[in-house]
Amino acid sequence: MDLQTLNEQFTNENVNFSNRGDDFTIVDIHNEHADASICLQGAQVISWTPAGEMPVIWTSDTAYYQHGKSVRGGVPICWPWFGAHAKDDTLPAHGFVRTQNWNLQSVQSLQDGSTVLMFGFDFSTGTYPWDSRSELTIKIIIGKRLEMYLQTQNNDEQAFNITEALHTYFRVSDVRQVTIAGLEDCRYLDKVDAFKEKKQNGKITINSEVDRVYLDTSNECIIEDSGLQRKIVIAKSGSLSTVVWNPWEQKTRLMKDMEPQDYLDMLCVETANAATNAITVNAGEAHTMSVAYALERF
Ligand code: BG6
Repeated sequence: MDLQTLNEQFTNENVNFSNRGDDFTIVDIHNEHADASICLQGAQVISWTPAGEMPVIWTSDTAYYQHGKSVRGGVPICWPWFGAHAKDDTLPAHGFVRTQNWNLQSVQSLQDGSTVLMFGFDFSTGTYPWDSRSELTIKIIIGKRLEMYLQTQNNDEQAFNITEALHTYFRVSDVRQVTIAGLEDCRYLDKVDAFKEKKQNGKITINSEVDRVYLDTSNECIIEDSGLQRKIVIAKSGSLSTVVWNPWEQKTRLMKDMEPQDYLDMLCVETANAATNAITVNAGEAHTMSVAYALERF
């Protein structure tokens, strides 16, 4: 859909559409609570900045805004599998919906001044490695908090399994100086140590590459950032895994869409259902995974 049609169809004083590059469309939201931007590709939030605050979400300055390539940063949606595909390693990591355009279905202003956007994935526009009849939608609320509700509806006659993540990149002052609270004593799979199962001792600190899937936890997490004098509170539901990822120095150097020092500025804390927390969605039923981010001052 071209920009003029989008601006005519979704007339809302708080939203505006623009293109980055050729036809890579972004929805910009500006309301009394926050500024935010969302790509139609992947229904991917790439910024959220509460009024008067520093940005909460990190997106790489060298990210690609090209159809079919994932944007490095923001909130990529990983679905219907998280990480590598379980059986076919020729398939892309983290599923296929993050690199395809979604349909914007509605834009609405709430009485409290927040803006609600509803996106749906269009399974009919391509051939995807997924043959179960399903509906995938995400409701995104831009306000004092950033809320996202990812819903998987099974319209098939058979149950199916999914793994999934809202793979959020947070902006931090210096990753070496932040801690993550909320996962103390949880078990995790350590991807940088051959997926060994381990137990978290105390709060998480980051001083080397970290790539972990914390299992069986619906706990709230708090990123405590003394440098920015703030806490990012992450509250979730419908999710039993939390993924924590920082590529650290060496891996970052190998990535063309990150600058060498960027790993210090970002941290992924992902709301997920991964590994043994895969979700079975029964025929005719729906599953919703949601998360809300809020800022608190020290
Ligand atoms: C994390 C994974 O969720 O995403 C990591 O645990 C992976 O293993 C990272 O490297 C980034 O993935 P991608 O495909 O966006 O480069």
